[in-house]
Amino acid sequence: MKTIDDLDVAGKRVFVRADLNVPLDGGTITDDGRIRAVLPTITKLAAAGAKVIVASHLGRPKGAPDPRFSLAPIAKRLGELLKTGVAFAADTVGESARQTVAGLADGQVALLENLRFNAGETAKDDAERGAFADELAALADVYVGDGFGAVHRKHASVFDLPARLPHAAGGLIATEVAVLKKLTEQVERPYVVVLGGSKVSDKLGVIDHLLDKADRILIGGGMAFTFLKAQGHEVGASLLQEDQIPAVQDYLKRGEERGVEFVLPVDVLVSTGFPDLKTKAPSNPTTVAADAIGADQLGLDSGPRTRELYASKLADAATVFWNGPMGVFEHPDYAEGTRAIAQALLDSPAFTVVGGGDSAAAVRILGFDENAFGHISTGGGASLEYLEGKTLPGLAALED
Ligand code: 3PG
Repeated sequence: MKTIDDLDVAGKRVFVRADLNVPLDGGTITDDGRIRAVLPTITKLAAAGAKVIVASHLGRPKGAPDPRFSLAPIAKRLGELLKTGVAFAADTVGESARQTVAGLADGQVALLENLRFNAGETAKDDAERGAFADELAALADVYVGDGFGAVHRKHASVFDLPARLPHAAGGLIATEVAVLKKLTEQVERPYVVVLGGSKVSDKLGVIDHLLDKADRILIGGGMAFTFLKAQGHEVGASLLQEDQIPAVQDYLKRGEERGVEFVLPVDVLVSTGFPDLKTKAPSNPTTVAADAIGADQLGLDSGPRTRELYASKLADAATVFWNGPMGVFEHPDYAEGTRAIAQALLDSPAFTVVGGGDSAAAVRILGFDENAFGHISTGGGASLEYLEGKTLPGLAALED
């Protein structure tokens, strides 16, 4: 895989595919980690005299412009962080994009509007995606892939465009791949994996793969209730993926056979309704044992005994991978489970990787110093699919 250092970019139009898909509350960015992560690549290219054209998706618009997913607030933040003006194109491959790119001097930076405002970006049809990639290619001379969070997507700007231009990996992708490689090759043991988030179905592939790799798997977040139910416990009104129970039972059985320890919550914070994340009004949670959740109760975070148990299971780890929050951390009543995992990782001498979107954002939103962690990945789904051993289209496209 070539890097920026292998490219001649002076005076060239360089298309940087970034992942600036940041969490927004209305028009306010609640975590700008993904923007900051790509700054070194942009700065390096600009310093080398490139005309830098940054492009990204934001959210999941349906192939047409939708103001809720405009990258305008991201352009503003990018300019603040770069401490320079960033020209913002009001479309992706239209008149505004062409004019904006044409107006760039060497060393200047532009951001295009949301790639997903164009149906060709995410099209399943190769020809439709290819046609959009042709339009993107017309804007640039060189391609730099640095949107690690999106490399698992076979999308025009991720997969088809690099085939049309001289290309290389940006510094972020190079770093992410080097770190994740450590978890797939000679991993230091004990290797403890913490998996949270809402859906078991998103994690099936990685659990399957980890049964051959990890020593211990700690389960939390909404997905823990499908595990508890698979063990025969009632979970009340908690999130449940009933159709995944057979798969989970199979994993628990295989874990036992292979000596991989699954650790499940022993107590849970519950309430009778979902908390209000806008007002953050107190929701009066109670703590119940994990096998005593009432029919009208909804599990929203790990309880205190679970937090202690999980910290003890992390204390002797040499390597830790964590993906997914332990509870509804956006509400202060349910942030402690996630906070406890972050703290246990900080207290541990292990090599720690925080994988992905929500858990990475949680670490920052809860006020932890991100530099104190071994590595905070910018990729959620991408880091999981990498660990599953899958071929990621956006990495494969940069290989040759
Ligand atoms: C992410 O947030 O995981 C990436 O930006 C990819 O977004 P997507 O799941 O909408 O493709």
